[in-house]
Formats: sequence, C-alpha cells, structure tokens
Amino acid sequence: EKDKELIRGSWESLGKNKVPHGMIMFSRLFELEPALLGLFHHNTNCGSTQDCLASPEFLDHVTKVMLVVDAAVNHLDDLLSLEDFLLNLGRKHQAVGVDTQSFAVVGESLLYMLQCALGPSYTAPLRQAWLNMYGVVVAAMSRGWAK
Ligand code: HEM
Repeated sequence: EKDKELIRGSWESLGKNKVPHGMIMFSRLFELEPALLGLFHHNTNCGSTQDCLASPEFLDHVTKVMLVVDAAVNHLDDLLSLEDFLLNLGRKHQAVGVDTQSFAVVGESLLYMLQCALGPSYTAPLRQAWLNMYGVVVAAMSRGWAK
C-alpha cells in the first residue's frame, strides 16, 4: 500500500507532462544503449540521434510508452488486468527486434527520468516501489517472447 501511495503521488504531476518526461527517459536510453535507436530506423529516416529524437514517429512512441506507464499506475490495484495487453505488447516488440535484456536499461532510464523530475522526493523507497511495478510490467511483456 505504501508503494502504491509513493507511485501515485509521484506520477500525479509527472503524468500531466508525459512527452517531455518521456523524452528525458528515451534520451537517456539511447545514451546508455545507442544501438536501440536502430530499431526505429525503418520508420524514421534519421541521420543523427537528435534528428531521430525529434521525429514525429519517435515522439509517438514516447507518448505510447508513457500511456502504458500511466495505465500501470492507474491499475496498481489490479495489474493482472493488463496481463493480456502486455503480453501482446511484448510480442510486438519481439517482432520489431527488441531483446528482453534491453528492458533492464529501459528501467534504468525510467529511474533516471524520475530522479531528474522528482529531485529530493526521489527516495530509496520510492525507487524500489517503481522498480517493483516496472518489474511486473516487464515480466508480463517478456511472456510475449515465450514460444
Ligand atoms: C511500438 C520500439 C520499449 C510501448 C513500438 C515499435 C517499435 C518500438 C519500433 C513499433 C513502431 C511504433 O509504434 O512506434 C521500442 C524499443 C524499446 C521499446 C526499441 C526499448 C527497448 C517500449 C516500452 C513500452 C513500449 C518499455 C511500454 C511499457 C509501445 C507501444 C507500442 C510500441 C504501446 C505500440 C504497439 C501497437 O502498435 O499496438 N516500440 N519500444 N515500448 N511500443 Fe515500444
């Protein structure tokens, strides 16, 4: 319950500004793992990282990711209800060439974004609460890779 309060409380203001926060998260992701940028190339013809981050397709994806986070925060009492959706989402990511191992780096980037946005409110229990929720989401998505 404490976890849920921490997550909801921190998402309250963040969730109102999804795109800028999502941009911080994905900029960090490509800093940590530039190769992931290549997975977007087939629909975004971009030369440099900056061009790619500015492309409409890329911004669309950032928005989609943040909406999934939003859905998870709104279903904290009932994350199982997202199971089928997340399994299918995992399948789609397998199809575009994402590796489940990359989700660890995505998680790090999510925490980085939270740290930037929350400043002193980013505490060890808050970090752990987010990691727990993210772990549930990733576990469900990862089932999409199972044969
Ligand atoms: C779709 C890449 C992580 C949510 C896609 C697509 C690509 C992609 C190439 C298809 C084109 C598009 O819709 O833009 C990646 C990469 C990731 C990543 C490289 C990092 C390793 C995530 C995460 C989430 C997410 C963590 C949410 C938790 C979505 C959604 C779609 C999507 C909702 C649309 C699926 C649909 O069409 O039904 N992703 N993605 N992605 N991604 Fe990701």
